[in-house]
Amino acid sequence: MADKLARYVGIDLGTSTSALAHVREDGNPEIVPNCDGERLTPSVVFFDQFEGVKLVGSAAKDGGFPERTVKHIKKHMDDPTYVVEIDGERWTPTEISALFLAKLRKDCSCLIGKIDEVVITVPANFNELARKATVTAGRLAGLSVKRIVNEPTAAALYYAHTQSVKGRVLVYDLGGGTLDITVLDIENDQVDILLSEGARHLGGSDFDSVLIELIGQQYKAQNGKDLILDETQRRRLLAGAEDTKKRLSKLNTVSEKIGSEDFGLAEVELSRDAFENAIRGLLTRTVMLVEQALDNLGMTPDDIDHVVLVGGSTRIPKVQELLTSQFGKAPISCGNVDECVALGAALFAQRARRVSEVCNHSYGTLAIIEDAATGEAAVRNSVVIPKNTPIPCSMSQVYMTSEDNEEVIEVAITQGEDHDPRYVDVVGKISLKVPPGRPAGCRVIVTYSYDENQRVRAQIYDEDSGLRKDIDIEYKGEGVLGDEEIESKSAYLKQIKIA
Ligand SMILES: Nc1ncnc2c1ncn2[C@@H]1O[C@H](COP(=O)(O)OP(=O)(O)OP(=O)(O)O)[C@@H](O)[C@H]1O
Ligand SMILES: [Mg+2]
Repeated sequence: MADKLARYVGIDLGTSTSALAHVREDGNPEIVPNCDGERLTPSVVFFDQFEGVKLVGSAAKDGGFPERTVKHIKKHMDDPTYVVEIDGERWTPTEISALFLAKLRKDCSCLIGKIDEVVITVPANFNELARKATVTAGRLAGLSVKRIVNEPTAAALYYAHTQSVKGRVLVYDLGGGTLDITVLDIENDQVDILLSEGARHLGGSDFDSVLIELIGQQYKAQNGKDLILDETQRRRLLAGAEDTKKRLSKLNTVSEKIGSEDFGLAEVELSRDAFENAIRGLLTRTVMLVEQALDNLGMTPDDIDHVVLVGGSTRIPKVQELLTSQFGKAPISCGNVDECVALGAALFAQRARRVSEVCNHSYGTLAIIEDAATGEAAVRNSVVIPKNTPIPCSMSQVYMTSEDNEEVIEVAITQGEDHDPRYVDVVGKISLKVPPGRPAGCRVIVTYSYDENQRVRAQIYDEDSGLRKDIDIEYKGEGVLGDEEIESKSAYLKQIKIA
């Protein structure tokens, strides 16, 4: 097997679970299990204190030492300052994610051959920093990341392939950490994304937190003590809450023995109704985001032919109920809602269908703009390419220089929709030296182009002098590793025992 090279490999690097799939010789995708025989590998790592082994997956989940266990790291992929410190070593979300990818790579290559090139999925609303961090995690794990693809796009490819879903489709992806809503058209071998919206920090792990509150209330009613305020008890409760939640998707009532001998034991009874009521606010938010997505497209639920479910949290009966009443028809589920992203990513790697995407974020520039109402001038974010514009695209905006004798024109390239500069990311800068002695008010044309590979280029053109400059917009901010650093960290990770 060692000499064989795996073809068309897709990886879903999920908040709660990760999975690897490849396309078989017969053209169908399949999940490749890990060495523990699991199709889904929990995105959890346990830092063993005796041999320094990094246990990844289910074995890590039961490690017993919460302070040595890291989970839900994907929630921090966009935070360059976030680190986890264990045994005096500092680990970034990118490095932790690399451990998950290294485990999948090592385990799955036993079955399908050497894994080199891969497609990795990300939530549609991941920003540039988080996307870049995902590619870097792949490289640290010794993988060549051919493409990053949005999770709902991958899932839609899977539904189109296996369930012959076609027409106008809304993908509702509620996983462990994020909600993604994508509307797309599927016709024959062409998939056109029309819009992708989403919410970070809205998913199964938030439901788990609500559930432990419910359990905590009952415990307090029986024992008079606050279980959740005790860190060890809280972590233990949280670890068990996921299973309780899953049981509530199948049963109307479940009972649990909680607490410990020394802290005090209690038996609590939970009903599905009580749980679904407690998460009502979060679920309503998801429904509102669906409404908003349709609104942005000028569509109503009637314009959607199929609603397809993606993500483990769509197994919650209330989720399906709410979507059924919103669309007047039941959503379609492929059953393996937590596998379809990886399966679709493998199909994406194979490029069996053409996929046209949209910009996941707005790109703009910082400019001094006069407020129409107050007449006051202030630095604002001026959007050049709005979010959800079909790509490839190229758009321009004319600006005027604001001062006399400006010799260097500098343009800050932003990512984000807000007009307030505080709520957008500056992802690059481009500057152009122009001849001296010019008055303010010279026309400068800023053009952004976005290609199929989601690469963005910026051009600045000074009309008066005819000078121009082009750059690739590459996020190089805090937390982004350079090539050399990636190589040395990758070499370090290679020596680590990952099991
Ligand atoms: N039967 C079930 N009932 C309720 N929730 C479930 C069920 N099965 C799985 N889940 C929840 O689904 C989530 C995991 O889903 P999935 O594997 O699709 O997410 P992920 O890909 O890890 O997350 P994300 O896509 O947000 O990064 C977890 O929160 C899990 O508890
Ligand atoms: Mg997912």
